[in-house]
Amino acid sequence: MGETPETWHYGVVARYWAEFNVDGGPEAEYFRSYIEEGGGPALDAGCGSGRLLVPWLHVGLDVDGCDVSADMIALCRERAEREGLSPTLYVQSLHELDLPRRYRTIVVCGALGVGSSRERDQQALLRLHEHLEPGGTFVMDNEVPYASARNWTHWLPEHRRELPRPWASPGDRRRGGDGTEYALSTRLVDVDPLRQLVRVEMRAQMWRDENIVAEEERVIDLMQYFKGEIVLMLEAAGFVDVDVRGAYDGGEPTPDHDFLVFVARRSNP
Ligand SMILES: C[S@@+](CC[C@H](N)C(=O)[O-])C[C@H]1O[C@@H](n2cnc3c(N)ncnc32)[C@H](O)[C@@H]1O
Repeated sequence: MGETPETWHYGVVARYWAEFNVDGGPEAEYFRSYIEEGGGPALDAGCGSGRLLVPWLHVGLDVDGCDVSADMIALCRERAEREGLSPTLYVQSLHELDLPRRYRTIVVCGALGVGSSRERDQQALLRLHEHLEPGGTFVMDNEVPYASARNWTHWLPEHRRELPRPWASPGDRRRGGDGTEYALSTRLVDVDPLRQLVRVEMRAQMWRDENIVAEEERVIDLMQYFKGEIVLMLEAAGFVDVDVRGAYDGGEPTPDHDFLVFVARRSNP
C-alpha cells in the first residue's frame, strides 16, 4: 500500500490549477467557519496550490497544508510568499500522513478518492483521525457518483462498452497572468462498478508566443462513494458524531446536492 497515489495535479495541470483556481469560492468561506468554530491549529489536507489555505492565512488562521503533489505544494509556497505569507507545508500522501503536529480542525476539500483506492482512502481516514486532537473536528466534502450524467450513464453495460470515449476537442485556451496559454481536455476511459471507480484521462497543453511548449497526458482513478459508505468508513476509522450536510449551504443533504459534506469528531478520551 506504500505506492504514491496517481493524481494528475502535476506539471501543466498543476500550473493550470494554480493559475485559474485562485479564488476560494464558496468552499473557502464554508470550511473557514469550521476552523473558526473548532479552533486552530488546523490542517488543510490536500491543500493543492492554496486556493483555500492562502485566504485563511490572510485572515490570521493558524493552518498548515499538505498535499501528495510536490508541484502543487511548490506553487502554493510561491503564491503564499508572493503574498507575504510563510505557511508550513508538507509533501505527503494522506494514507501515509505523519506530521509533527496535532490539529483541532482538519479540512479535506476535493481530495478524497482522487487518484486513490478504497484501501488507501480508508487508511487516509485513519491517519487523519490520528492527526486530530481529542475532541477535534474533521470536515470533508465529496462529490456524489450521480453528479455527472457523463459518468453515471457509463455504469450501464451498454454504455461501458462505448469506453474509452473519444477525445473531446480541447477547451478554449485560457491566458495566464504571464501570457502563457493553457488548454485541457478530458475523456472517460473506464468505469469499474466493482471497484467503484471511474478512470479519466486528461490532455494538457501549454503555449507561449503561439508555440506549444508542453503537452502532457495523465490518467486518474476517481473513487465513487455514496453517502452511507463514507459514514461507515469514517466510523471504521474511529470518528464519532458523524453528520452529513449539503454542500455548501450547511443544510440537510438532499438528492440534488452534487457535493456532500461530512463532519465528524475525534472522541475525547
Ligand atoms: C481538486 S484538488 C483540490 C485542492 C484544494 N483542496 C482546493 O480545494 O483547492 C485535489 C488535490 O488533492 C491532492 N491529492 C489527491 N490525492 C491525494 C492524496 N492521496 N494525498 C494528498 N493529496 C492528495 C491533489 O494533488 C490535489 O492538489
